Amino acid sequence: MSAVASKVQHDRLSERNFRRLSAYIYNYSGIKMPPGKLTMLEGRLRRRLRATGQNSFDDYCNFIFDKGGLEQESIYLIDVVTTNKTDFFREPNHFDFLRDEALPALAAAGLRRVRAWSSACSIGAEPYTMAMVLEDFKRDKRGPDYQILASDLSTDVLERARRGIYPAPMMEPVPDAMMRRYVMRALDPRRPEMRIVPDLRRKVGFTRLNLMDDAYTVGEPMHLIFCRNVLIYFDKPTQQHVLTRLCKCLADGGYLFIGHSESVTAMELPIRQIANTIFVKD
Ligand SMILES: C[S@@+](CC[C@H](N)C(=O)[O-])C[C@H]1O[C@@H](n2cnc3c(N)ncnc32)[C@H](O)[C@@H]1O
Repeated sequence: MSAVASKVQHDRLSERNFRRLSAYIYNYSGIKMPPGKLTMLEGRLRRRLRATGQNSFDDYCNFIFDKGGLEQESIYLIDVVTTNKTDFFREPNHFDFLRDEALPALAAAGLRRVRAWSSACSIGAEPYTMAMVLEDFKRDKRGPDYQILASDLSTDVLERARRGIYPAPMMEPVPDAMMRRYVMRALDPRRPEMRIVPDLRRKVGFTRLNLMDDAYTVGEPMHLIFCRNVLIYFDKPTQQHVLTRLCKCLADGGYLFIGHSESVTAMELPIRQIANTIFVKD
């Protein structure tokens, strides 16, 4: 190991620099960074020191905060602090509700095209699961056509989501009939990867969007919004801020899904609970 690499390996993030970084991350993304996260941030940022050619955390923080490096570094800084855990058919009762309640109600209301949004989509498992359910409903029940917007703050996950390639074990929750319709195996059986079929990939448009941003637009109001397992990283005022903005994007009669460990208790929002962690805008 060179002397510089060794210095980077053993350098420590000071509390002062942690406070500067955590304040920026919180203000920009809403993600809470309490003091207990110092070691986590230190570990995850070490490779950014190498990537930006800085010899220490002090140099890195001077580079981003005092020498104008923040603009170019912000995307990577955010990529290292986001937690991207996701699964196909995660919290499956949401997808049962979608198939059995929400889609029949939207179809009965005469809707020709469902507009759906996965607002913290990570590597794409959530919007592709939505697409499988919507496509099945369209084919088997002569349901409405649909389009899905999938967004996230992290550019890293969006790149992987667009490719739609996943390790085979990740596909285990996908029912067999859907596997046959919507998932391709690698031609080389030694490659343990699977890919979402092109027709389904085409139904999902990926874009970078910060839920903290007051000025974002998503076009026409959405009939389905999934905002799952991202609110937990925000404090209550931030959750209220994000959900107030999100509800403005929800059509009347549209549904909002939040994660099972998330809650909107005591928030002023124009929605009514209709099932566990599922809400409708009247
Ligand atoms: C744990 S994943 C949840 C993925 C998926 N919704 C699910 O439930 O499986 C949380 C995602 O929220 C994204 N995220 C965090 N802060 C965000 C923000 N301010 N705006 C948009 N996305 C954000 C992260 O990049 C991450 O991909």
